[in-house]
Amino acid sequence: MRECSQCLSDVPDESCAACPSCGAPLAPPDQAATQAANQPDGGLESATAELRRFRRQFEERAIALSESALRRAERALSSAETQLRRATIMLVDLCGFSRMGTQMNPEELSQLAARFYKICSDCILSRGGFVVKFIGDAVLSVFGAPVAFDRDTENAVYAAIDIRERFRQLYDPPGPGRAVSIGLATGEVRSGVIETPAGKTYDIIGDTVNLAARLQGQAGENQIFVCARTREATERQFDSAPTAPLKLKNISDAYIAYRILDEKPAPAPRRVFESSFFGREKELEALRSLLVRAPESNAPVQTAIISGEAGLGKSRLVHEAIQRSGVGDRTIRWEASPAGAEILLHPVMEWLRREMRLAPDAGADDVELAIRAHLGRVTPRADDTDAQTLEYVFGTPRALQTFRGVPPERIQRNLFAILRELILAHGGSKGVVLIVDDVQWLDALTLKFLEAFAAWTGPAATAPAETPSAAAAPSAATTLILIFRTGAEPPAISKPAVSLNLQPLSESERQALLGQLVGTNALPASVRDLILSRGAGNPFFLEELTRLIRRALIEQLAPDGESLKEQIASLLPVSLVDVIQSRIDRLDLRTRQVLQCASLLGVEFAFRLIQLFDVVREGLDDQLQTLRALRYLDELAAPDPTTRDILYYFVHGLYRDVAYATMLDEQKRALHLALAQKLETAFADRLREYQELLAYHYAHGGDARKAIYYLIKAADHQAGLGGESHALKNYGKALELLRAQPPSP
Ligand SMILES: Nc1ncnc2c1ncn2[C@@H]1O[C@H](COP(=O)(O)OP(=O)(O)O)[C@@H](O)[C@H]1O
Ligand SMILES: [Mg+2]
Repeated sequence: MRECSQCLSDVPDESCAACPSCGAPLAPPDQAATQAANQPDGGLESATAELRRFRRQFEERAIALSESALRRAERALSSAETQLRRATIMLVDLCGFSRMGTQMNPEELSQLAARFYKICSDCILSRGGFVVKFIGDAVLSVFGAPVAFDRDTENAVYAAIDIRERFRQLYDPPGPGRAVSIGLATGEVRSGVIETPAGKTYDIIGDTVNLAARLQGQAGENQIFVCARTREATERQFDSAPTAPLKLKNISDAYIAYRILDEKPAPAPRRVFESSFFGREKELEALRSLLVRAPESNAPVQTAIISGEAGLGKSRLVHEAIQRSGVGDRTIRWEASPAGAEILLHPVMEWLRREMRLAPDAGADDVELAIRAHLGRVTPRADDTDAQTLEYVFGTPRALQTFRGVPPERIQRNLFAILRELILAHGGSKGVVLIVDDVQWLDALTLKFLEAFAAWTGPAATAPAETPSAAAAPSAATTLILIFRTGAEPPAISKPAVSLNLQPLSESERQALLGQLVGTNALPASVRDLILSRGAGNPFFLEELTRLIRRALIEQLAPDGESLKEQIASLLPVSLVDVIQSRIDRLDLRTRQVLQCASLLGVEFAFRLIQLFDVVREGLDDQLQTLRALRYLDELAAPDPTTRDILYYFVHGLYRDVAYATMLDEQKRALHLALAQKLETAFADRLREYQELLAYHYAHGGDARKAIYYLIKAADHQAGLGGESHALKNYGKALELLRAQPPSP
């Protein structure tokens, strides 16, 4: 059966020239196959063996290789001439292998070599590289030939790090036969099928290959040496250090190479706070003792539940507790949002995309590669089903096909198991801390997963541990922290270890906080008292009131005693939402519009996305800077590691909510529609992954036809994962829209 490339619907009739669903013209059936069959047989014959090898390398490990990549490989491997291409060459060597010949029997030696080959080829292939040949105790591979993908050099370095990681995990301490040395070089190579006494075979030759070999020769145990070009192409992603000048064969000058240290760390903590933290000692202590507790064996997941009104300081409290306990590097943070509530597994997907460094313009092939590489890196025990389960969630065509007819409960069970593995692996042997903020907006499936995760008591505790060094050791002190606003239904967690309901700050804490907020430009005592009583011990309310008053003072109110107090009293809103509302009202039209567009994107958003709105594109940079200066928004400390995109966030979720609410229905509809259309184009290669988001924006954007289409697609996907409540709701909405449609002619 064919599929429409425009709307992705199945086209049952082979004779159709246009898609029956959307009317887009269709490619004739199996155009690719026909083309291939018609190709003159010339060089193809001689290269089929190599092509088969190319195909097999990936297929045996079930690594997705797109048809287009195969066709490109076919072309490259069938051309009689070798091609000159820019590529990255990697030579991996098993340290001290030749010396071991005397100490081990042949059986042991070949087992060791086989394991080495397997690790190397798994890591190379899963990053889109090609294994050229095994040479004794070394593996030669190429990235960027015979087929080039995006980011080949970067992938080569990732593969090197993956291999090194696998060896580090397997063998501690390293030593002969227990470590690798790796050399990488980027440059021109001759690539193609060449004649050898043993027959035709694919090979790469050139100075770049020699350079990679020389660099490998200089690298010590578990070291990765790269040339200047490789480093230059990847320095955004990896930390590196120059080597001492090296003496390389056939290179007259001393050669400076670079040693790859590691992937660069993820961005710094997202929020920058204006004031120091006051009070909450008891709560901090409760969280701290939970976070730094000794590993335990019988109840691996301990839960803390934190509730309170908006602005009382729930998120900040957890942030402080994490900082003070020094567990930031084994913390995962998931954030739910109002728009995400409609999207199954929304915070999980966002987390995975970040972890896998999935660029927004990646295609379905890249998604599969990224998933497999990520699993290989994080939990080497993961198998093919695990990978396909994640692919299913991302909606890749192959996984959808594979799981057709598989009961949703089974997919869900697999999914929950693999998510748990990925989460636990993040904490290593000390135990991970998973923070889920704004739980009141979680989608049903993420909530269900978290409830199962909290109730999980570790791998069958009675069984003797097979692999004591396994990453997800049952003795880790795994902690789950759930934060939600008062008024929402609490998650069904039985016996949380810590349960905190935040109360307003005490009188003295309010004084101290206000003192700091106001700073040196002291306000008259009467105005201070007014703020303190209005602020009701809510730190966010206090902050916002202070901002409002500061602004008012700048705008020249009569600055004398009683009349000032009266003027301010008349100006001061009575609730937190009102104060935010009045701060938003004070913005000029264009700046407010930027805030409103952003409110459709979520509490956190990328510059790339807000720029999609035509209405605000002009002068957008300036408006964003204004909003930052006035603290409606802020900018993340570091840009997105994959896209280098600047990320912004509303200083508080309430700002997003209020900004959204300030729009008239007509305005909202227009923006949702514009965004839906832009996203549809931007994510053209991964529509299945984003169909829930598109359904949401089209439904709010009033395009009934598109909305119905995506609502049904989204509901199908949700039903397939066992998200019945979401599916039902979306089918219901689609039906409602259908009923409202004029009868078709
Ligand atoms: N104990 C505190 N001391 C000082 N500032 C605080 C305190 N608690 C919260 N804040 C500030 O109040 C604002 C709102 O806090 P936040 O944690 O986002 O609230 P919540 O998560 O409860 O909605 C933030 O700017 C934060 O820095
Ligand atoms: Mg919060």
